[in-house]
Amino acid sequence: MSIRPQQPLLAPSILSADYTRLADALAMLSSAERCIVHVDVMDGHFVPNITIGMPVVAGLRRETAHILDCHLMIAEPARYALEFVQAGADWVSIHQEADPHCHRTLGAIRQAGAKAGIVLNPGTPVEALTDLVGAFDYALLMSVNPGFGGQSFIPRVLDKIRRLDAMRRNSGDFLIEVDGGVGPGNAAALVAAGADVLVAGNAVFGSGDPLRAITELLAAMDAGRNAAG
Ligand code: DX5
Ligand code: ZN
Repeated sequence: MSIRPQQPLLAPSILSADYTRLADALAMLSSAERCIVHVDVMDGHFVPNITIGMPVVAGLRRETAHILDCHLMIAEPARYALEFVQAGADWVSIHQEADPHCHRTLGAIRQAGAKAGIVLNPGTPVEALTDLVGAFDYALLMSVNPGFGGQSFIPRVLDKIRRLDAMRRNSGDFLIEVDGGVGPGNAAALVAAGADVLVAGNAVFGSGDPLRAITELLAAMDAGRNAAG
């Protein structure tokens, strides 16, 4: 039986929320269905920006019942991944480019009780995952170069989703998440190509009415799933 959700999920990214009002952002999301909370962790080394660490994740944990999806854009993720699980992350993803021993780190994340995700930058081919299938619960394809919200979507990722979807049909199940430049104009096509989870920062928190933006994105995603059959 497939582990894929019946309907695709949306992961609003609090990178684009007001960092002095994160509890308010989570309160707003509490009534949003089919949403998980995407948390962008950046170290100023693997990516040219610095955001939040474990203490903030622990604080977020106290404020929401939603799944916390922690995207680690950090060098040497093995050093910190388990601390994010202990802080309350339900999903923890690491970049394939950041860890020569990602098979081991993914296993440690699972062992600690979280879902393990592997992330690929735009320039990394999905074939880099061929021999990791079975070791991760979800693959996160970056559709921008990581580091900042509000960047333009790189269309090439559509083909990468299709190739990754073919890979999982042949050799094992996992979810496909897409992150960067997602909005109402591409959400349907991304889901039709095979994505199960879409991250959206600017499209949600940059809009005047985030809950309405979420509803519209979910509707577009459902249309994409229906079109794919
Ligand atoms: C980018 C982050 C994304 C970011 C997406 O490095 O990984 O999660 O929040 O933001 P938007 O949706 O604005 O491109
Ligand atoms: Zn992210």
